[in-house]
Amino acid sequence: ALPKVYVTRRIPPDGLDILRKSGQVQFELWDSDDPVPRVELLNKVKGCDGILCVLTEKIDAQLLDVAGPNLKVLSTMSVGYDHLSLEELKKSLLIWACIFCRGIRVGYTPEVLTDAVAELTVALLLATSRRLIEATHEAKTGGWGTWRTMWLCGHELANSTVGILGLGRIGVAIAERLKPFKVKKFIYTDVEPRTELANMINAEYVSLDELAKQSDFLAICCALTPETHGICNWNLFSKMKKNAIFINTSRGGVVNQEDLYEALSTGLIAGAGLDVTTPEPLPTHHPLYTLKNCVILPHIASASYTTRNAMSALAANNLLAGLRGEAMPKELKL
Ligand code: GLV
Ligand code: GLV
Repeated sequence: ALPKVYVTRRIPPDGLDILRKSGQVQFELWDSDDPVPRVELLNKVKGCDGILCVLTEKIDAQLLDVAGPNLKVLSTMSVGYDHLSLEELKKSLLIWACIFCRGIRVGYTPEVLTDAVAELTVALLLATSRRLIEATHEAKTGGWGTWRTMWLCGHELANSTVGILGLGRIGVAIAERLKPFKVKKFIYTDVEPRTELANMINAEYVSLDELAKQSDFLAICCALTPETHGICNWNLFSKMKKNAIFINTSRGGVVNQEDLYEALSTGLIAGAGLDVTTPEPLPTHHPLYTLKNCVILPHIASASYTTRNAMSALAANNLLAGLRGEAMPKELKL
């Protein structure tokens, strides 16, 4: 029989076509734009050889136990993998006095989304620094009484220092796009220097402290891990410049949102643009929505037609290659 696969969401057409036309798998799809309920998910993964998921699904010990020993491949349609318990995916279990290694291979979708995410990050940065959302609101609601000399003034990129927390492909792509805006200097921090990437954008390696102190714009581009969880907190914000603009297109978990709210509402920093929050969706009554200097987007950084299709195609190809026992186009090293 063909390998059995569960696809946890209605994915873009390119990926679905690849699965359909492969003739290699027998797959079932949660054919909805909304997440599959957990109970349904646990029921559907039973006995599966492969799972294709998106970032709303927690892939943890419970799910892997329920799926059972047939499960060989997990393919996520995302570059982030904080929703996957990597420890559990590679774990060895003792069952009936036998050592059984789960040995599940994991595919993800880096690179294909770099351009879209960098583009959105620049858009969000400019929307925040030049107060675009506030400005359109003023125009529409009668606030535009006349042309005023200091009205809706913001901060410009020209001659600024841009800091990047977590320098990877996306951070480099953001810097490449910001350079023509006449940025004076790029600085970054990471667990260790990323010399090769840094050289591409002439970025200087600094400590987290220096990053906070020097940045006029701070872009968060790191993965969410136990080390980066809550790393953007009061300690960081309190060292930042009053004119600083904070931009996060990575994961909400890297930010302590209470601290960010305090920093924004007391004028400790000038503004924040967030594409990611905790939780997602951020409830409509959340205090951050009341702040004029906070621009919140509903996790759309990779949301271009081209990129979402490319992500679904890569996720499908990762899955099929994994099931054939071949090298995946983009496999996560566990
Ligand atoms: C989006 O957030 C992704 O991880 O692909
Ligand atoms: C602005 O519109 C100017 O003319 O300075």
